[in-house]
Amino acid sequence: MRLIQRTQGSELSSTSRDFLAIEGLPLAELRAIIDRAERLLPAAVGEAAAEERLRGRVIANIFFEDSTRTRVSFEVAAKRLGAAVIYLGASGSSASKGETLIDSARNIEAMGVDAIVVRTSISGGAALVAQSVACPVINAGDGRHEHPTQAILDMLALKLRLGDLAGKRVAIVGDIANSRVARSSTHALVALGAHVVAVGPPSLLPAGFDQLARGAGSITVSHDLDSIIGEMDAIMMLRVQTERAAGIGIAPDYRSSFGLTAARRQRLRKGAAILHPGPVNRGVEIDGAVADDGLDSLILAQVSCGVAARMSVLLRALDR
Ligand code: CP
Repeated sequence: MRLIQRTQGSELSSTSRDFLAIEGLPLAELRAIIDRAERLLPAAVGEAAAEERLRGRVIANIFFEDSTRTRVSFEVAAKRLGAAVIYLGASGSSASKGETLIDSARNIEAMGVDAIVVRTSISGGAALVAQSVACPVINAGDGRHEHPTQAILDMLALKLRLGDLAGKRVAIVGDIANSRVARSSTHALVALGAHVVAVGPPSLLPAGFDQLARGAGSITVSHDLDSIIGEMDAIMMLRVQTERAAGIGIAPDYRSSFGLTAARRQRLRKGAAILHPGPVNRGVEIDGAVADDGLDSLILAQVSCGVAARMSVLLRALDR
């Protein structure tokens, strides 16, 4: 059917089943995706039988940038729902011979897959793929742009811990400039009515970040973690993404100024949640003992929520 459409010259465009960004997602839809993920959580972690609502479907994971959590959790999510998964990476594929992301996606789609999950270093790359194929496309992280399923899992982990996020104060700390996680989660938090404080050195905090998102919440910026840490309901630590641009390094005083050290952790409010999207650089943006704090660190809970979040998004794309 899709081949016939293409040879007839019909225009390919992204569909409402694509999941490319949190920005612009209607609030009711954001809530529905999070709520469905919450209902799916027992099945996601194997504590309840999953309904195999995607049995017979084939999902392609095209990951042209490295990943542990996102890639594997999309695969677990698809398999929990009964779908088959194929994986295409930059290494070991014809990307190494110069084939573009778009050509790769179009060739994979021509094999009849039902949906494409894409990760790329190209900001806006997921939308380019969506414009080039007819099947639903899910953004698994595109450059500095967005990581929308990470935002869903972050909102779910926070909701399970804090309840309604309206009015909650969440610090996002570190390399804001290069972080698609910061962008997607800020859009989600502001839409849900939370107050975001973006914290980092001036070199890693882009001008205008406080105007990024619209919603019932707000965004402020700070270069002084110690001045705000005691007021937060949650703190999300980010890795400095040295791979994003040549010349980015980690300043010698980064940990003492912006790291969640064991000493600084004592200044958090009792019960404040600690998040990190991973991968963690222990002893840089967060101390190992803080990351492993079984009481307040949600880092592994985030990973569990990631399977449920991706099940929810896959069902939105394919369960009709
Ligand atoms: N949080 C996240 O995107 O991790 P990976 O890069 O391992 O997928």
